Amino acid sequence: MTVVAAPPGVVVRSAPRLRGEIRLPGDKSISHRALLLALLAEGESRIAGAGDGRDVRATAGVAAALGATVERSGDDPRVIDYRVRSPGRAGLREPAGILDCQNSGTTFRLVAGILAGLPVFAVLDGDASLRARPMGRVAAPLAAMGALVAGRAGATLPPLAITGRALLRPIDHATPVPSAQVKSAILLAGLAAAGTTTVREGVATRDHTERMLRARGVAVRTDLLPDGGAVHAVDGPAEVRPRDERVPGDVSGAAFWLVAGAIHPDAELTVRDAGTNPTRRAIIDLLRRMGADIEERPVGAAGDGERGEPLADLVVRSSALRGIDVAPAEVAAAIDEVPVLCLAAAAATGRTVIRGVGELRHKESDRVAGIVAGLGALGAQVTVAGDAIEIEGGRRLAGAAVETHEDHRLAMTFAVAGLIARGETLVRDPGSADVSYPGFFGELERVRA
Ligand code: S3P
Repeated sequence: MTVVAAPPGVVVRSAPRLRGEIRLPGDKSISHRALLLALLAEGESRIAGAGDGRDVRATAGVAAALGATVERSGDDPRVIDYRVRSPGRAGLREPAGILDCQNSGTTFRLVAGILAGLPVFAVLDGDASLRARPMGRVAAPLAAMGALVAGRAGATLPPLAITGRALLRPIDHATPVPSAQVKSAILLAGLAAAGTTTVREGVATRDHTERMLRARGVAVRTDLLPDGGAVHAVDGPAEVRPRDERVPGDVSGAAFWLVAGAIHPDAELTVRDAGTNPTRRAIIDLLRRMGADIEERPVGAAGDGERGEPLADLVVRSSALRGIDVAPAEVAAAIDEVPVLCLAAAAATGRTVIRGVGELRHKESDRVAGIVAGLGALGAQVTVAGDAIEIEGGRRLAGAAVETHEDHRLAMTFAVAGLIARGETLVRDPGSADVSYPGFFGELERVRA
């Protein structure tokens, strides 16, 4: 007798209508940084409304392993409050075991930057996905600053073993690809450098690290260049002051609801307290360019002025979307939202071309391949030409089984596709959504009710 296991997955059925109000998980990027800056600052820092996905928990675990006391409180699965007490950089300890970053590239790269400036031996590792992601882009500049960095494939793949130094050499570094993680790693190492560390970016990336360092007394200087690039400089050695943080709702999580509402024929969804930082909001503006009916109601800011993060309630209604051309700099600004943007394009009329998507091949999975295969299985016409994804929109999607490669953003994209596809969509390995958005599938059920 052959026993065939039922394929693991969640079935999403097409929804007659979408209504409801959504409270987002805390922003993942800001949550990581709040924990790590609390680790560097001597004293107590409270963090309200942090994301409680597996990635942020991995960062909390690393902070504790390096010597902070990390307390969690709250009972909402989407957000968690933290109280972090730290002896400050000088009092951090050598971790007894490996630092497990799990699926989280942000944890790995930002912590690498911190370890470079600590005179301890530490090993950073993660899951199978993380072990395949390029780390030479942080290892090389950190080694140039004086840290000893060893790892697989010539210190380009995890695990990485880092022996840091209390005082590093400052560098002037141009990042090879736009990456807020790499920029942040170097700026964090720059806090332990004897002089000015400079990071040059061809495309300005998300600026949470700079805002949050400034709010903690570190004078990071940023020049935005007319061509869209940016130059950041920090003078070390520099102390980080402890500070309380309120984390905005994750705009990358909001993106799934914005697309769901825009592509569904009978939808009105309200997403509360989404972060609308100019370096993160590109997905809102791209969807609007496609014709999405998204109303933005500013509701103040988490934190003050230039150092804080603007917030808005976003109301999205059923929209007639049109295909657009997306330039490489826009891809960099919406890097995590490209999978769900491709779904919007599949539901739009006309052609969408998204150029400069090569970096998507180095995320939690090869997202270019995952999008082409997954949206293709649902009946969309998606092709890759060089570094561009081309989508011929307007075909009615039909439910099918789709592979998510344990990638949270693919799982959530295909689940949203299931709301408009005819019949049933089987999203395989949906559990990865917990990496950034615990409770996502519960919300998906709720808004269709
Ligand atoms: C992040 C930066 C981006 C993004 C990731 C979060 C961050 O990665 O994809 O989800 O918090 O700095 P890269 O720096 O590799 O582009």
